[in-house]
Amino acid sequence: MNAIQFTVEPSEELQGNLRVPGDKSISHRAIMLGAIAEGVTEVTGFLAGADTLATLAAFQAMAVPIQGPQAGKVVIQGVGLQGLKAPTVPLDLGNSGTSMRLMAGLMAGQKFSVEMTGDASLSRRPMKRVTEPLAAMGADIQSSAQGTPPLRIRGNPPLKGIEYQMPMASAQVKSALLLAGLYTHATTCIVEPAPTRDHTERMLRGFGCEVKEEAGKICLRGGQRLQGHAIDVPADISSAAFFIVGACIAQRGKVRLQHVGMNPTRTGILAILRQMGADIRVYQERQVSGEPVADIEVCSSQLHGIEIPPALVPLAIDEFPALFIAAACAQGTTILTGAEELRVKESDRIQVMAEGLTQLGVVTQPTTDGIIIEGIQRFGGGKVHSHGDHRVAMAFSMAALRAQGSILIEDCANVATSFPNFVALAQQVGLKLSVQQ
Ligand code: S3P
Repeated sequence: MNAIQFTVEPSEELQGNLRVPGDKSISHRAIMLGAIAEGVTEVTGFLAGADTLATLAAFQAMAVPIQGPQAGKVVIQGVGLQGLKAPTVPLDLGNSGTSMRLMAGLMAGQKFSVEMTGDASLSRRPMKRVTEPLAAMGADIQSSAQGTPPLRIRGNPPLKGIEYQMPMASAQVKSALLLAGLYTHATTCIVEPAPTRDHTERMLRGFGCEVKEEAGKICLRGGQRLQGHAIDVPADISSAAFFIVGACIAQRGKVRLQHVGMNPTRTGILAILRQMGADIRVYQERQVSGEPVADIEVCSSQLHGIEIPPALVPLAIDEFPALFIAAACAQGTTILTGAEELRVKESDRIQVMAEGLTQLGVVTQPTTDGIIIEGIQRFGGGKVHSHGDHRVAMAFSMAALRAQGSILIEDCANVATSFPNFVALAQQVGLKLSVQQ
C-alpha cells in the first residue's frame, strides 16, 4: 500500500469550483459525541477518510450501532454516557493522532479496560501530553517507556476534576481533558497558552452541554448528558488549503471552494497568505451546526515573503506543508518561528518539507522551532519523499504549478487518511497528476 507514488507534470493553470471532503476534526468529534449521546445523531458531510473511519470502527467495536458512511451520511444510535461496551480486541487507530488522544480522555472514564494501538507513525507520537494530565485526574494509563502508543487504559477509576494549565497549545489535549471531565462529579478547567481549535466546545454545546469560556479558560461540569441531534460537517479548510495555495501560485489560477469551515481558530492560513499578498475573497458567510462556513475564491497573485506572526501558528498548524510551498514561490524570505509542534505531527514536517524543498532547488534553513525559506520563481523537477505524511504529499503535488520538470512524490498512500478523492479533484481543476501503484 505504501508503494503508491504520485507523478505531477508541470502545468500553469488551476481553475474550477470544488467542494473538498468534510472536516476531519469535526467528523471525529461527531462520532465520539454522537456515540455517548442519548438518541440519534445524523451526520451529513462526514469525511470518509481512513482516520475518521478508524474512529467510527472503534465505536462500533464498543457496541455503538452506526450506519454509513454512505454519500457522507452517518447515523449513530447513541448509547449514553455509560453505554459503551468493552471491545474484544485492541482498538487500532491507524495513522490518527486525533483518535488516539481524544479517545484517551473518553476511555479514561469508562468502566472497562481498553488498549489502543496505531501504525508506525502514530506509534512514534508523544502521548504524555494527554496521559500526564489524565493521570492527575485519576486515570490509569500505561504507555511505552518513551510515552508513545500503545496505550493501555484501566477501567473504572474515580476521576476527579482538575484545573490544568496546558504547556503547549493543543486542541487534542484540551479535548481529551474535556471528554474525561464529562465522567467526573466535578468541574474540569483547562487554561490554553494560545487559542486552539474549539470544535469540541462548540459541539458539546450543540449536544446540550454547558461549556464556559473566559479569557482562555475553558470549564465543563461533569455528568452532563448529551442529546443526539443533526450535524452538518463543513468542508475541511485543511484540505482546501492545497487548492488555495495552488490557485495562488499558478500562472492562471482561479478556484472557488464551497462550504468551507471558517472557524476563526482554523483560518490562520487565510491571514498568512493575505499578509503575503494573496487574492482571497470570502462569500456567503453563514453558520452551520454551530460552525461558521463560507465559499472562498482564490486567484493567482505574486506572493512576497513575510515573518509569520507566532500568534497565527496554532490557527494554521496543519497548513504549514502547503504554506511552505507558497513561501518557496514568494519573492524574498519567509521566516517561521514558534512552530516546534510541526516536528511531532504525522512526520517531522520541518525536516521532511526542508528535504523535499532542497530536492526541488529551494534554499531552506530548518531551525528547532521553524524554518527560513528563500523564495525562488520556479522549482526544478525531482523526486521527493512524503514519509507517509498525507499533507506533505498533497503540498508537493501543488509545487508542479511552478515547476520546470516533473515532480515524483513517494509514499502517498496516506493521502487517503484525510482526503480520499484528492487525486480526482486535483485532476478536475487541472493538475497533471498520475498515480503509480
Ligand atoms: C486536531 C488538533 C491539532 C491538529 C490535528 C487535529 C484536532 O493538533 O494538528 O491535525 O482535531 O483536535 P494539536 O491540537 O495537537 O495541535
